[in-house]
Amino acid sequence: MKALAVFPARRAVQVVDHPEPAITSPTGVRLRMLEVGICGTDREIASFQYGTPPPGSEYLVIGHESLGEVVEAGSAVRRVKPGDLVVTMVRRPCPHAECLPCRQGRQDFCSTGDFTERGIKGAHGFATEFVVDDESYMNVVPGALRDVAVLAEPLTIAEKAITQVWQVQSRLPWVAPPGSAGASAHRAVVLGAGPVGLLGAMALVRAGFATTVYSRASGPLDKAGLVASFGASYVAAETATVEQLAERVGNIDLVYEATGAARVSFRMMEVLGSNAVFVFTGVPGRKAPIELDADLIMRNLVLNNQVVFGTVNASRADYEAAIRDLAAFRERWPAALQRLITARHPLGGATQVLLAGPGGIKDVIAIA
Ligand code: BGC
Ligand code: ZN
Repeated sequence: MKALAVFPARRAVQVVDHPEPAITSPTGVRLRMLEVGICGTDREIASFQYGTPPPGSEYLVIGHESLGEVVEAGSAVRRVKPGDLVVTMVRRPCPHAECLPCRQGRQDFCSTGDFTERGIKGAHGFATEFVVDDESYMNVVPGALRDVAVLAEPLTIAEKAITQVWQVQSRLPWVAPPGSAGASAHRAVVLGAGPVGLLGAMALVRAGFATTVYSRASGPLDKAGLVASFGASYVAAETATVEQLAERVGNIDLVYEATGAARVSFRMMEVLGSNAVFVFTGVPGRKAPIELDADLIMRNLVLNNQVVFGTVNASRADYEAAIRDLAAFRERWPAALQRLITARHPLGGATQVLLAGPGGIKDVIAIA
């Protein structure tokens, strides 16, 4: 079968013939891959800055944002059945007994670093025709979400972040969950208008936050119109400094960073509000060191009771939340949700898409 592969040693990206996988355990499930999304991580792997092939393999089959259809299930499989649409989780636990997160199924918090990630680190991914995995990593998606379900994985990043924001903000007894009477502390700024930022903004709007997306206007896409269509505001970074942004927003209770750019992120941290939370989701590439006003940031962190955390990957609960949210987005903002997927490409044309860089919002490989 065909697979999209990255050869780090040879510095090559190409579609290869890859052996078709077979079910080898009673809880194994075989999927026909329908769609795979391409993100910044994939582009980093395709430029040989990130990613590790499985032991003994010269190449890594990439792809971690996926949608598949069950075509065969092992004898003990209970969670899924042939015909089901599923989104498969990315990360697999490390083998170490002392890693409590992995031993409790929370490999998204793996403490040894020896986890594997399908399509990223030590395990082949989903940009291929068939995949076999254990049912325990699969999440069933309603058939009605067929055309947008490939967005579930990038949305899990926001779901995990928002869950942790509420855990942190449970320190503020007067802050009621958004949507409920007396809700407060719900002014959010999303930094960046790529897929992670836009999906995060949708999730924040749905969670009851007054949400402002702050981003550099890029390309011909009308991001301001898109953002307005799902009930958030848009501020172009070219037209407003972070100080002006903060003036417009009021107390910034939450920053959801989705750029991977340190300079603008730490500038934004300087205007973070009181009792606020700043969440980092972007992974910056190695660049020259930047200058920042560390005294000001430290002073604000202390005097304003601020919390800064980073978050990566996602739990099963986050996948379930993402699938529920996609259904809700589709109900409320069907056109906006569709607009996040700006192009679909055949597997054979995926190499160019990976190497070209993001032209639109989300590029998707349509496999079947
Ligand atoms: C993926 C995560 C993964 C992270 C780090 C992201 O692009 O969505 O699942 O944990 O990269 O490898
Ligand atoms: Zn990703």
